[in-house]
Amino acid sequence: MKRAIYPGSFDPVTLGHLDIIKRSAKIVDELVVGVLNNNLKTPLFSVENRVKMLKEVVKDIPNVRVMAFEGLLVDFAKKLDAKIIVRGLRAVTDFEYELQMSQTNMVLDKEIDTIFFTTSLEYAYLSSSTVKEAAFYGADISRFVPESVIHQVYEKLKEKEKKNE
Ligand code: PNS
Repeated sequence: MKRAIYPGSFDPVTLGHLDIIKRSAKIVDELVVGVLNNNLKTPLFSVENRVKMLKEVVKDIPNVRVMAFEGLLVDFAKKLDAKIIVRGLRAVTDFEYELQMSQTNMVLDKEIDTIFFTTSLEYAYLSSSTVKEAAFYGADISRFVPESVIHQVYEKLKEKEKKNE
């Protein structure tokens, strides 16, 4: 069983993430989308919310599972008996960080390899942060995130604004 993990913050999942999920799911038996529950970052969406949104988005891809994880990615991979980490590369600016992360993971566990998918051209500019910023200023985000996610981003930002008032 060839199992891979596609880890990330997914705050929120974008069409770029979905593209990587679909393409990587084709080359493995099972793809686990690992949603980081990170104490160091303050995400817009709770981890439960991010998992729920992702589950909805991948519901028609039979070999994809969505799970939350905490702590080291290599420990999560070991627990799942996954030897492959999947990451997307949008531009050369991603490279340094991704190389550092994959090499750190390699030192932490030499059994685990990272494979990179170059992002499809149409999503090369996309990131969860720019989606949030664009939505905050009222832009149409329908070209950036899956349909089921659109209203949740606006709602969550509204909620956050109310809290800050
Ligand atoms: O979507 P992101 O925020 O770029 O994803 C980053 C992620 C979740 C892949 C990375 O932060 C991660 O793996 N965190 C878990 C902690 C860990 O294992 N750190 C050591 C490797 S640098």
